[in-house]
Parts: sequence; structure tokens; C-alpha cells
Amino acid sequence: MIETRDLTKKYGDLYALNRLTIKLEPGDVYGFIGPNGAGKTTAMRILATLLAPSWGEATICGYSIYNKPREIRRLIGYMPDFFGVYDDMKVIEYLEFFAAAYRINGPARRKKCEEVLELVNLTFKRDAPATSLSRGMTQRLGLARVLLHDPQVLLLDEPASGLDPRARIDMRQLLKRLGQMGKTIMISSHILPELADVCNKVGIIERGVLLYDGNLRELLARVQPNCIVLVRVAEQVEKAAKCLESHPQVQNVELRDGEMRVQLVAGCSDYTFIPDVLVQSGLKLTMLKEEEVNLETAFMRLTRGMTA
Ligand SMILES: Nc1ncnc2c1ncn2[C@@H]1O[C@H](COP(=O)(O)OP(=O)(O)OP(=O)(O)O)[C@@H](O)[C@H]1O
Ligand SMILES: [Mg+2]
Repeated sequence: MIETRDLTKKYGDLYALNRLTIKLEPGDVYGFIGPNGAGKTTAMRILATLLAPSWGEATICGYSIYNKPREIRRLIGYMPDFFGVYDDMKVIEYLEFFAAAYRINGPARRKKCEEVLELVNLTFKRDAPATSLSRGMTQRLGLARVLLHDPQVLLLDEPASGLDPRARIDMRQLLKRLGQMGKTIMISSHILPELADVCNKVGIIERGVLLYDGNLRELLARVQPNCIVLVRVAEQVEKAAKCLESHPQVQNVELRDGEMRVQLVAGCSDYTFIPDVLVQSGLKLTMLKEEEVNLETAFMRLTRGMTA
């Protein structure tokens, strides 16, 4: 669906994008993650045929960006990071204007516009001037616009920026739904946690270079290979810690404010032995839970570790 090989963009001596090689299949929701200036927008603009690369190849549904830009534009929906809306246009007129540009005519046009408005939860603003929308609503209108011609491939440059928490959740659900419809979606973001539950694949990019490309679960396993369990006992916490420490599945136990942070040996994720071990030693278990992987720290650790 989307395939690139050694895609590179140079501005003078600066490699805005350095030999990007990725492959996305139908139904893939790809999180393209990296800090400011990483090259996300550059890559997406190249794929949208709006920017010429310095070298390298990119195809969308088999069409090359070099000689089939018209075909590609018909197949994709590109939502840029910033876009303006026109004065003196109602929300619905704004969409109809673009629908007309996509040659959606007759009664189908109005129907399609109403449909995408509904999809992004903006029907209640259909008759409001487009310029009167809040930033988050404008963002949703932008998404509605790229869905008009029912594109197979969506290139969304930071679609969640400026959205409030509620709208972020809605956006995530919408993206999931679009993925389930078999569309190929590439979404850029600064932050990994934001995309974690939507994407099946992620690419982490920094200074033009793709540092990681693949499955999200494997990425997490890489950043945090050991499962950590938080355990509390009613009393005799030191005895409990010693007890757990001597278990073969336990790598180490840390004591923090009366709570045990039990790190299991790599590859072990079954911690059901913990209550058994404690109870057998006559200890009373009061709490047991797996420590959640903090994606934010994981991401920082990963980029630091890889670029160092
Ligand atoms: N027209 C240009 N001329 C010179 N340098 C440019 C140009 N466009 C982009 N760059 C540089 O290319 C690099 C990548 O920029 P890009 O916009 O792709 O980053 P990004 O990952 O989208 O960042 P952000 O998260 O801030 O949107 C940056 O160092 C940027 O300054
Ligand atoms: Mg950008």
C-alpha cells in the first residue's frame, strides 16, 4: 500500500529525511513518532506528492510518486499539520466545496458531506461559519474533508494536536474504525502513548533517521524486558522481600515506602506464584499488581539509548 525505499530529502547539508524504508499493508495503522524536526512532515509531504525527494523511491498502491502523482492524489487523504479554512463559508459549504473538487456531484454530494460530519461528530456545527470553529473542531473538520472521497490511504500529520482529552479519545476511536475498514493509515505524533492503542505498527524517527520500525508490543518488550509487580503485605515486609528474592523467577526486589517492587527474570510474565510463596511463609498479602509500562519514559529511554 505504502512502500518507500531509501527515501531521502536534503536541504543543503541537512538530511531532513535519511533513507527512509518502510512498508505498510492494507489495514495497517502506522504511528510515525518523533520529536520536532524529525522529518515526519517531510516524509508525509513526499508521500502526498507535494514535495519532491532528493532521491529514493516511494509508491502508493503500486503507483510511483515520480510519474503517477495524479493517481496517488485520488487514492490518498492527506491532512496537513496546519491548514486554513475560508472566510464566509459555513462548515457544510466548506465540505461541499471540496466534495465538488473531488467531483462528487448531485444528491450524493450533500449526503456524503453530512455523513463525514457525523463521523467526526461535528453535525451540530454544520451551519456555523468555518472560521468560527475552535482549534480542535477545525482539526476534526480537516479530517472530515480528507474522508470525502473515501480514500484508501490516509496520511494524517498530527491529527490530535490541539484536541482536548475527550476529542482525543473520539479521534482514536475514529482512527481505529477507519483501520478496521481496511484503510492504510499513517499518523504522525510527538508522543508514543497517544498512539499506543490505535497503531499496530510504529516507526520512531529522529533527525531524519528511522530508529525503530515494527510491532508496538516488541518495542515495549525491548524498552522494558522485565515484568515488574508491585506487592504489599500487612506486616513483616522485609521477611516477605527476602522470601520473594530467593524465588528463581525473581530477579530482584526493591523496597519503597513499605511496598515491594518485584522484578521478574526476563521472559517471565506469570506472577501467580507470588501469593503462594507469601502465604506459605505465613505472610498476609494486601496488594498485588503489575506495574504499568510508562510509555513516555520508555520512549525517552529508547530514543536516548539508540542515538547515544
Ligand atoms: N523548506 C525547508 N528548508 C530547509 N529546511 C527545512 C525545510 N523544511 C523542513 N526543513 C527541515 O527539515 C527537518 C525536518 O522537518 P519536518 O517538518 O519534516 O519535521 P517534523 O518531524 O514534521 O517536526 P514537527 O514535529 O515539528 O512537525 C527540520 O530540521 C526542518 O528544519
Ligand atoms: Mg511536522
